[in-house]
Amino acid sequence: MKAILHCDRKWGIGRNNDLMFSLPADMKFFRETTRGKVVIMGSNTLISLPNEKPLKNRTNIVLWPGGDKSRALADGFIMADDMEEFKAEIRKYPADDVFVIGGAMMYRTMLPYCSEALITKVDADGGAEVFFENLDRAEGWRLVEQSEPLDDNGYTIRFCRYVNDGVKAL
Ligand SMILES: NC(=O)c1ccc[n+]([C@@H]2O[C@H](COP(=O)([O-])OP(=O)(O)OC[C@H]3O[C@@H](n4cnc5c(N)ncnc54)[C@H](OP(=O)(O)O)[C@@H]3O)[C@@H](O)[C@H]2O)c1
Repeated sequence: MKAILHCDRKWGIGRNNDLMFSLPADMKFFRETTRGKVVIMGSNTLISLPNEKPLKNRTNIVLWPGGDKSRALADGFIMADDMEEFKAEIRKYPADDVFVIGGAMMYRTMLPYCSEALITKVDADGGAEVFFENLDRAEGWRLVEQSEPLDDNGYTIRFCRYVNDGVKAL
């Protein structure tokens, strides 16, 4: 599986249970990369989506201990009550099709199982409250690709790909 996210200069990823930047080019990259695939998330990230609804044209799996399964059924997503159930749901799909889409707690939990991280770096300080792990310092992780800088809604961004040489089996 792969993590996908954008972060600021300090590896910050969010504030007030929301994103810090509006980035149309990054959003397009996210949409195209995850379309038709499986996205997995924590409950706060589902709540932060428009109308608290799962993402269209993707299989959505949400880790939500004590969540309301009738809501999941009505809204068309898969809800897992605990880590074991969550992992069992994820194992039903090819690992390459699974994307961890947040948030901070979910990234921390699933990072050891990620073979790659697709990170859009924003050259700004978004005043984040929650952070992703600094992969430049994380054991086993290395940067393998970095795009030229480009402008996205007034921000300078770069698309980066990190790989994990120490990926754990789910
Ligand atoms: N920059 C980006 O690309 C990006 C992407 C996504 C999200 N974000 C940001 O990230 C922030 C949200 O992060 P977050 O950490 O609050 O949210 P989160 O990871 O989406 O959700 C946390 C909740 O998910 C459940 N959960 C996650 N990991 C768990 C585990 N190991 N065991 C049991 N339950 C687990 C728990 O639910 P219960 O509380 O129900 O038990 C937990 O409180 C927001 O600001 C959002 O905008 C940024």
